[in-house]
This record gives sequence, structure tokens and C-alpha cells, in this order.
Amino acid sequence: MRAISAAAVVLAVLLAAAAVPCAGKSIFSEDGSATWAIVETIPEGVDLYSEYHTYETWLELIQNAKSSIRIGAFYMDFANGTNYLDWEGGKGVAVLDALIAAGRRGVKIELALNEQVGAVPYSPDPHILMNMGLAEVHWVKWSLVAKSGILHTKLIMTDDENIYLGSANIAWDSMTQVKELGLVFTKSPLIVGDARKVWDMYWYLGAKNTTSLPDPWPAAYNTFFNGDTPLNVDIQGDVMDLFISVDPLQLATPGRELDLTAITTAINDAERFVYFSIMDYGPFTAYEQNNFYFPALDTAFRAAPFNTKGLEVRLLFGVWNHTLCDAYPYLQSLAMLKNVSVRVFKIPDLPMPVQIPFTRVAHNKYLVTDSHGWVSTQNSFADYFLTTGGMSFNVKSDAVVGGLVDKFFRDWDSKYAEDICIGVDCSYQFEPCSSRPINS
Ligand SMILES: *[C@@H]1O[C@H](CO)[C@@H](O)[C@H](O)[C@H]1NC(C)=O
Ligand SMILES: *[C@@H]1O[C@H](CO)[C@@H](O)[C@H](O)[C@H]1NC(C)=O
Ligand SMILES: *[C@@H]1O[C@H](CO)[C@@H](O)[C@H](O)[C@H]1NC(C)=O
Ligand SMILES: *[C@@H]1O[C@H](CO)[C@@H](O)[C@H](O)[C@H]1NC(C)=O
Repeated sequence: MRAISAAAVVLAVLLAAAAVPCAGKSIFSEDGSATWAIVETIPEGVDLYSEYHTYETWLELIQNAKSSIRIGAFYMDFANGTNYLDWEGGKGVAVLDALIAAGRRGVKIELALNEQVGAVPYSPDPHILMNMGLAEVHWVKWSLVAKSGILHTKLIMTDDENIYLGSANIAWDSMTQVKELGLVFTKSPLIVGDARKVWDMYWYLGAKNTTSLPDPWPAAYNTFFNGDTPLNVDIQGDVMDLFISVDPLQLATPGRELDLTAITTAINDAERFVYFSIMDYGPFTAYEQNNFYFPALDTAFRAAPFNTKGLEVRLLFGVWNHTLCDAYPYLQSLAMLKNVSVRVFKIPDLPMPVQIPFTRVAHNKYLVTDSHGWVSTQNSFADYFLTTGGMSFNVKSDAVVGGLVDKFFRDWDSKYAEDICIGVDCSYQFEPCSSRPINS
């Protein structure tokens, strides 16, 4: 593992930041009222349009922060952009620079990150910020929660009123070379207050003196908001019912809905359509020593068009060199069913001989039905619902549903998507694939 000295990174940060322009549409309103937006990363060279971008959104959130920046995540990796300045790596450097500037102007920066053990990627960022005295880091001891799994959330909150939650890892390549989708709400303290309860659990689990999982969690972590009693908000005239669901069960305090309940309920309640855009998918665990079959979500997709006349299911899978070879037959079998269509989405390589590791994939994780939007940090192997830490926005709103449907068809009808092969030799479409799953 190559060590990057903090001083070298900071120097590079200061040099590169000036070179990156900040274009794009502001996520904040001029009059300071609440806003919402679907925020995406369209990878370099990919010919799809998005109004709001992960990079500009994160930069704006951080640059505008006045009192606090709280991140809950698998890992945080902006500094490594210095190694890819020709491939938009400067955007990572600019975000790290903005974090340093925020810390220097007195903004409290608190990072709850998965403990750097096992296969968790090492990244210099938290150490840089800690060594500069600009951030407090709590390494979440996931082993206290579950025997396997990781904290896989991707959450940024600023000033207790602005929030990003979505598929993008808190990393330079998630802003540049990986396709991502998340939701942002600004000036929405009730929404952020509810997300904060989940983040506070991560923070607690990362405290030095925490040695066990609280059982039960103190009542302060309970929530009022779930599928039965959602939070009702009106944002710029868009009325929405909203709640945050979580994984796994160990973090579902009283009132808090489990992710698997939220997503299967959304599918079961759909009347006309269910569209799902996801990277890893399969009705089984993939990361256990002894993997097992766990088809709860898969069954919901198969049952919905059977039980509900006229309902159509469309599944769009982001595939790449790391797609589990053994997952393909399950995707193919879905495509055999009446009123279920399946496509694979592939992102072309960069025009360079050696590709950037773990990039060039549709990593977005969302579901949209005729009444429900689910925007998540979670893939869909069973592990994500059973042992992995994640969060999802659940929103019932014509505006959010309409926005997600537009994104879905933009991708479904694009040149990057094609019907999944269900013939005899499908290797042309499925190779290369991988015998080992990765967490992403
Ligand atoms: C960042 O770079 C370091 C040093 O090259 C490397 O060890 C590490 O794996 C990288 N981190 C990520 C998350 O890619
Ligand atoms: C850990 O220390 C903090 C700060 O002193 C305290 O508030 C908290 O209750 C302690 N937690 C445990 C599990 O002892
Ligand atoms: C469902 O499948 C049936 C039989 O193939 C077809 O007639 C119908 O139009 C389909 N409905 C939808 C909503 O796709
Ligand atoms: C995927 O694998 C193929 C064949 O080994 C290789 O040519 C391609 O560059 C890889 N793509 C990425 C993004 O690593």
C-alpha cells in the first residue's frame, strides 16, 4: 500500500482546486426555502443528461456549511483523485479542499466511517483531516452489530438542515467515473433530524468506549416516521409523504421501518408499474461463509405482475467486470416471466490502457412504482438487507415519482442498455464476470 503524505496531498489540493470550475445548477433556493432534487453522477464521456450533479451538489453543501458537516459512510476517499488528475480526479481534490476550508472556518466536521479492517479500502482522507485537527472520526465497529457485513451508507448532512443520501460512495470516483443517483433536501430540518437519529447510532457505535450493541437502544433513537405514519412535507408546492428505512434489524429502533419491508411493500402496493435500477442483484447472500437462498425481494418482483392485472415490471441491472457470474441465471429467469422485462446497462471503458479500478458501472440503487420512490444506498444481494448497514429514502410524491420515472426511461432507452440475453450462448453479454462479489 502506497502512503501519501498529508503535506503532499494538501499541496496538491491547493494547486488543483483552482483549476476545477463550479458550474451547474444550485440546489439551494434564492429565498432560502426548502428544496429537493434528484442528483446524479453521469460518468465521464457518457452521453446522458442530468440537471444536478453529485460533485457540484457536494461542493455546494460543504462550501455553504456554517456549523456542521456530518458524514456517515463506508469510507471517504477524495484525496486519491490526485492520482487521476487527467480523469477528473481534481474534483475529489476540490471537495477535500472545501472540507479543509470548512474546518478552518470553524465548521464542526464529524465522520462516522466503517472501521478500516478486512477488505475495507484504506483512504488517507480521514487521517489528513484528523491530523490537521479539523475533523473528529468515529470508526464504526460493525462487528458489534453483525458477524458479517459493513456500514455501507452514503450520507452527508450539513447544518442539521441539508442532506444527501444515495448510491454515491463518499469518494472522488463516485463524482466522476461511476453512475450514481441520490436525493438531496435542503432547509429541511425535520428530514435531517430523522436521518440524524440513524447517524447518531453509527456515531455511538464508533465511540472509543462503546464495547457492545445497546439492547434496546435508548428511546432517543426511536422515530415517528415510517410507512404507516410518514412525515408530510410541502417543498416548493411538491407535497410528499416521506420516511427513512434502514438495514439491518439491529438498527431498526421502535418506529423505524426495515428496508426490506419498505421495498417489498412498495412493490406489493404498486398498481401499474414497478421499475428497478440496481447494480448487484440475486435472491441469495453472497458474502457469507455459507451462503443461503433468501428470495424475499425476488419473490415480490415475480408476484407483482401475477397478482396485479396489467402491472409491468422493468428491471435494469448495472453490469460490469465484477458482476457475479452466478447471478446472471437469476436475472435471465426473471426475463422469462410475463410482464417482466430485463435489461443490462453497461458503461464503456475510458479511452486509456489501464482502467481506474472499480469504476465505469451503473451503481445507482432505486425503485420507482406508480406511487412510491425508494432511493437507497443498498444493493440487492440478501446480505444488504440482513447484515449490511444502509439507509433509504421512501417518498410518495408525484413530483419525485415522475422525476425517477424520467431518469429510468432515459437509461432504459439509451444506447447503454440492451435486453438481457436468454439464448443458448450468452457469454458475449455476460463476460467478463467475476466469481467473487465485491462491496460497492
Ligand atoms: C487510495 O490510495 C491508496 C494509496 O495508493 C490505496 O492504498 C488505497 O486503496 C486507495 N483507496 C481507495 C479507496 O481506492
Ligand atoms: C462514552 O463516553 C461518552 C463521553 O464521555 C459518554 O457520554 C457515553 O455515555 C459513554 N458511553 C458508554 C457506552 O460508556
Ligand atoms: C402483460 O402480458 C400480457 C400477455 O403477454 C399482455 O397481453 C399484456 O399487454 C401485458 N401487460 C403489460 C402491462 O405489459
Ligand atoms: C473489463 O475487462 C475487459 C477484459 O478483460 C477489459 O478489456 C476492460 O478494460 C475491463 N474494464 C474495466 C473498466 O476495467
